[in-house]
Amino acid sequence: MVDDFLTRLPKAELHLHIEGTLEPELMFALAERNAITLPYADIDAARAAYDFRDLQSFLDLYFLGMSVLVGAEDFHDLAMDYFRRAAAEGVVHVEMHIDPQAHLARGVPLAEVMDGLVRACDTAREELDLSSAMILAFLRDKPAEDAMALLEQAKPFLHHFSAVGLDSAEQGNPPSKFRDVFARARELGLARVAHAGEEGPPSYIREALDELDVCRIDHGVRVVEDMELMERLADEGMVLTVCPLSNVRLKVVERLEDHALPRLLDAGLMITLNSDDPAYFGGGMRDNFAACQTAFGWSDDTLRWLAGNAIEAAFMDDTRRTELLTRLASA
Ligand code: HPA
Ligand code: ZN
Repeated sequence: MVDDFLTRLPKAELHLHIEGTLEPELMFALAERNAITLPYADIDAARAAYDFRDLQSFLDLYFLGMSVLVGAEDFHDLAMDYFRRAAAEGVVHVEMHIDPQAHLARGVPLAEVMDGLVRACDTAREELDLSSAMILAFLRDKPAEDAMALLEQAKPFLHHFSAVGLDSAEQGNPPSKFRDVFARARELGLARVAHAGEEGPPSYIREALDELDVCRIDHGVRVVEDMELMERLADEGMVLTVCPLSNVRLKVVERLEDHALPRLLDAGLMITLNSDDPAYFGGGMRDNFAACQTAFGWSDDTLRWLAGNAIEAAFMDDTRRTELLTRLASA
């Protein structure tokens, strides 16, 4: 393990899609295990195909890639593969979005998904000192009724989930579409987060706050187009889970140097840094911190503050939070 500041910094990752951690090497191994034919000649060809124009062009390959996940063992191996890489770069806590609708649509039962992932989370905690939380994500380009059906179907597993989330194609699928589902999730005692303001307009961020009662906005970077909203987010201490390398790879911004991050920090927002889909976007948590350090010239104190925001905002018990904040202070 490299002993440098960015690796030592205890990093909590609040915005990660576990299916987006599937590296081409494991994708090919699981394809062989499950006798599935991939449309890539080899591992290099898969990586070469990860040249995205926008969110949708990524989602097409993201859903294609996850087709190799069939049984509990596949989900277990997916998560363990990620946890080992993450731990090696100083990640101490992972909150994973899971997309059950994408698996159910392929005939994979929720019990298989959960069996594999829960076992991996337990092992990570014991063997890697890596804690985790799960977020039940709804695919926003599917009908709200499907999301409600998933929430009902997930009842036997809800004790594993800290929150519900909203992901997939944002444009044309406003948060308000899921008002009833999120209200139900709240009744069931789940926290709420939602992707908003990645490709969608600032009004989607406002909707997520007002209609879904979220405690975090995933991405949220388009808030810079609305000064009043930016002030509101600062006043409310709303957490934004920003994903710098993802934003570059999905052309939300042309270059990292053009990213709104410095303006968001100046405006006093509770920013966290995250990797989103590290297997597809060219880097994990340490890479995201390092890229920002280079692009914006941030000091160690700023990077420590960002890591602290994530620990403060994480779904974890106070014992773990105190432990990680203590570790952060001495990093
Ligand atoms: N945005 C929306 N949906 C997603 C993403 C993302 O970055 N990654 C996986 N599903
Ligand atoms: Zn995301």
